[in-house]
Amino acid sequence: MKHLSDEVTFKHGATISNRIVQPPMLTSSGNKGMVSEDTLEYWQARNNSAGLMIVEYNYVSPAGGPASTWADNRTQLAIYDDKFLPGLSKLAQTMKKNGNKALIQIAHTGREANYRAHLGLPVYAPTSANYSFLPYGVQAFTEEEVEQVVKDFGTAAKRAIDAGFDGIEIHGANHYLLQQFFSRFSNKRKDKWGEYSAFPLAVAKEVANVVKKYAPKDFILGYRISPEEINPDNVGYTWHESTELINKLTNQVDFDYIHLSLPKYNAKPNDSDKTFAELFKPVIGKDTKLIIVGDVMSQEAAEDALDYTDLVAAGRAQIIDANFARKIINGHGDQLITEMTDEEEKSQKLTPGLREVFNKETKRPEFVKMSRKLDYSKAIKIDD
Ligand SMILES: Cc1cc2nc3c(=O)[nH]c(=O)nc-3n(C[C@H](O)[C@H](O)[C@H](O)COP(=O)(O)O)c2cc1C
Repeated sequence: MKHLSDEVTFKHGATISNRIVQPPMLTSSGNKGMVSEDTLEYWQARNNSAGLMIVEYNYVSPAGGPASTWADNRTQLAIYDDKFLPGLSKLAQTMKKNGNKALIQIAHTGREANYRAHLGLPVYAPTSANYSFLPYGVQAFTEEEVEQVVKDFGTAAKRAIDAGFDGIEIHGANHYLLQQFFSRFSNKRKDKWGEYSAFPLAVAKEVANVVKKYAPKDFILGYRISPEEINPDNVGYTWHESTELINKLTNQVDFDYIHLSLPKYNAKPNDSDKTFAELFKPVIGKDTKLIIVGDVMSQEAAEDALDYTDLVAAGRAQIIDANFARKIINGHGDQLITEMTDEEEKSQKLTPGLREVFNKETKRPEFVKMSRKLDYSKAIKIDD
């Protein structure tokens, strides 16, 4: 019988004190990519909550972000240069103060780098396109540029190790670059990178090599994936393909965990009676842990989610209540904050960026509205 308060040991030896995870979430607190006082304050308030905490997606190449950004002092965090190291080191120290494990998610946002478009800089993707859902065109990487991005993931991994993080999560989910390469909707390349799993596999191997060479033995390596990419008018991939990818990834790279990005923790695909968690669990191998996420807003939901998985992530719930996991573990799950008031936004140390975008009715922040604030008149257009 599993309990949320159980200790969990990963296959490379790291132990966490409970089964609750704080998933990566953009804090909109970066100052041109640098960790700010707002970032540190937010994490100082949350560093004794979940056993495993994952910093938002940090972009690994200069052109890998920023995404979901609408001002220079409200950006996504970056890890593409050594100049980010002092801030990231402070962040790792702040998060680790109470003995919980601090991970960092590394990413390339590819076509989603909206703030680059706003600045009039080219935005890259697997294949050139003018997507109806983006107010700017995106241009294909050359083969050499793809190879450089793979290397950038490795260099970013080295920085994460040097900064003192306990592990890395590779961001293969939520429509960012790894997913863009894996999707037949967005990857129409004719070179070797047109094989859908080539890029995610190359990135995973590069990062794993760096970890093996430079990180402590118990360093945690994870991979996040969206099990399906199904939009009303197109299909990028289904769980049939993504379980195959995970099979390849876990056979070739020694991951400590696989993290499924889900809208609801017990979501099911259209063509199966099983949940995504149940479909992925047998694929990842018995020593690799599974994390699931999606609409866990209460102790009851967290306990229910545990039926399907090893570790349960709660996102918005931990923005709203910085002590979400600790309250549950200490038997005070009935005292969770469930609605955001102006008072609580301050007491829960939301960053000004999060306060600006976070919808008080606990819905997703309105990124779309935010990105409309940007002026794309300088954005580079791509010929059809
Ligand atoms: C404000 C905010 C920022 C997010 N940023 C990231 C991110 O940086 N990386 C990522 O993989 N997912 C990100 N997500 C998705 C969350 O990790 C999580 O999967 C999602 O919120 C669903 O979980 P929940 O229902 O518990 O909130 C973000 C979500 C929110 C609400």
